[in-house]
Amino acid sequence: MSTMVSEHGKWPAKNDPIFMIAGKAAQAKEKYGEDKVINSTLGALMEDDGSLVAFDSVYSTLKALNNADIAAYAPIQGTKEFLEAAEENCFGQYKPDAHIRAVATPGGTGGVKQAVWNYTNPGDSILTTNWYWSPYKTITEEIDRGVETFDIFDKNGKYNIEGLKEKSKKLLKEQKRLLLILNTPAHNPTGYSVADEEWDEILDFFKGMSEDKENKISILVDAAYIEFAGEKDERKKFFKKFTNLPENLFIIVAFSASKSHTMYGLRSGAVIGVSSSEEVAEEFYYACLHTARANWSNGTRGAMTTVAKLTNNDKLRSQYEEEKSKYKKLLRKRAEAFVEEAEKINLEILPYRDGFFISIPCESPQKISEKLMEENIFVIPLQKGLRFAVCAVSEEKCKIAPEKIKKALNK
Ligand SMILES: Cc1ncc(COP(=O)(O)O)c(C=O)c1O
Repeated sequence: MSTMVSEHGKWPAKNDPIFMIAGKAAQAKEKYGEDKVINSTLGALMEDDGSLVAFDSVYSTLKALNNADIAAYAPIQGTKEFLEAAEENCFGQYKPDAHIRAVATPGGTGGVKQAVWNYTNPGDSILTTNWYWSPYKTITEEIDRGVETFDIFDKNGKYNIEGLKEKSKKLLKEQKRLLLILNTPAHNPTGYSVADEEWDEILDFFKGMSEDKENKISILVDAAYIEFAGEKDERKKFFKKFTNLPENLFIIVAFSASKSHTMYGLRSGAVIGVSSSEEVAEEFYYACLHTARANWSNGTRGAMTTVAKLTNNDKLRSQYEEEKSKYKKLLRKRAEAFVEEAEKINLEILPYRDGFFISIPCESPQKISEKLMEENIFVIPLQKGLRFAVCAVSEEKCKIAPEKIKKALNK
């Protein structure tokens, strides 16, 4: 067979498994009807009937923009109003006292790419939890970087800070630099949110490691689900802890408007660098500007203007907040229904705090997922278990799903 692609462009010929299973779920819905199918595949907020939630406040604002405002290029770094709005949305009232610079990205994915490309060297490995969002691997392997992991929970089901420390030390010894990716709050796929005291312990540890001035330590906080975590802004408190960190301990935050503004397809977000050193923040800004130009140029102007308007106009902002809060409550009710039922029937799940997903650890996830498909229940098989997207399933179905999953596991 003739082959044209370069060596580094050769990857196994496979389709995205999530979209494949979602396609099967859509077929089942067509054949058997919506009420007979549980489609918990996609990480997008759905109404109870399975249709996509798209905030009215967002889309009426977008559609009211004049054509030129949508059609024009945005500056490569993003519009000033958008970048300010991104910081405000992301940090809420807990903006760290630090030098902060931001550059627009196409969603949170762009932020991950920026961090991996600019804060690791070829051949390095990034560090993250053993349950993780698979594009971290796609992004790193494409540019000759690896992924090392630590077990997210210890034997007692607690966040495994000892494992984080151990692996960080190892990588710092080998590489003298570290990029740690923590998807928190509302981790995909477990729904875990790192607690404020856990953040204290993590930051104390890295402050210690940064006493060796040769160590270059960066932590990427992937905050894709932050708007659907906790009550009001309580899950944003940890951002304040990024004040006064050592110069060689750098924080990068990947802000995404995909979930927070139901703007998945509009590809908008920002990568935000936080440092006690102006030089480090400035260097970050120009590195990201170059990467943006080299990869996607600029972001989507209409999306940027919409986010800025929803942040700066009081009336629009309160409409948006109201809508978001309504769906945040809906999500919490669904998750509570699933967790309560799982507890009642002794279905083991990983510790859930917030967000779109709940994970069920198990052997042979692929087989279990296939078994469940026979019963029109569509869940995503991961390496170490199943991912159930409560964001996409009605409360009523969230209540009945645990038992069906447990039955499939017992078989
Ligand atoms: C863990 C995690 N990080 C980041 C993202 C970013 O997505 P997007 O690029 O659509 O903003 C997602 C989306 O599914 C995610 O699950």
